[in-house]
Amino acid sequence: MLTTKARVRERLIDGIKVQVYDDAKELISNAAMQLSALLKEKPSATIGLATGGTFVDFYTHVAATHKEDGYSFGAAKSVNLDEYVGLNWEDPQSYHRYMLENFFSKVDIRKENAFVPNGNAEDIHAEAAAYDRRIQDLGGVDLQYLGVGVNGHIGFNEPHTPFDSRTHVVDLTGSTREANSRFFIARDVPKRAITKGIGTILEAKKIIVLAMGSSKAQIIKDMFEVGMTTRIPITALKMHPDVTLMLDKDAAALLTDL
Ligand code: F6R
Repeated sequence: MLTTKARVRERLIDGIKVQVYDDAKELISNAAMQLSALLKEKPSATIGLATGGTFVDFYTHVAATHKEDGYSFGAAKSVNLDEYVGLNWEDPQSYHRYMLENFFSKVDIRKENAFVPNGNAEDIHAEAAAYDRRIQDLGGVDLQYLGVGVNGHIGFNEPHTPFDSRTHVVDLTGSTREANSRFFIARDVPKRAITKGIGTILEAKKIIVLAMGSSKAQIIKDMFEVGMTTRIPITALKMHPDVTLMLDKDAAALLTDL
């Protein structure tokens, strides 16, 4: 029987390994394979996790396949990128709840090893500093997953965030609040968030960025038309030695030579 192998095109652009997938399922499964390889080699690894629409299918896939694939989260630690300020853990739009529903409740990670910033902390700035220290105490992040905002943000590091920033509190831009309003039916998107800084993110040993859908095409084109600029936070990744950017066809549509 003939099988059609999904196509993946790959090229190094500005030091970033850019992969374009014809099939989004193949993209998700390759992104998950990196996690599988890491946890088989180092079961106690620390993984940096992201939320948002992009990662829902990723978590579903990992939750459904990890046992059969022969690895476990029993000794692993996770540190999420960000959380909205002012939403409690139970809030349906909080990233705590997102992680619990999409991932933590479906795998064997220990509750005490799964960290998400507390957006409801009394002293939010102290929480940010403590979160950054916690990442250091865990020995740093082995593999960081990222999505990208339509304005080029990574985590919630909005345009003009310094590249050496640590975990901090941010004012979300109009564009981010507008993009995320699809998750907040009949209520306002919070105005602030707590996020790992760009400097914190860059300390991860390995970084995998996922971008899917036509809404990301322009920013993916823009990031390779400039060098490194705080105007487009994702360009900071060009200074990291091990970044893979996984794109579906729609997100890659404006990259002409791939
Ligand atoms: C989420 C995060 C954000 C999202 C980005 C894309 O933890 O840090 O940077 O990755 O806003 O969001 P989606 O996937 O909803 O398009």
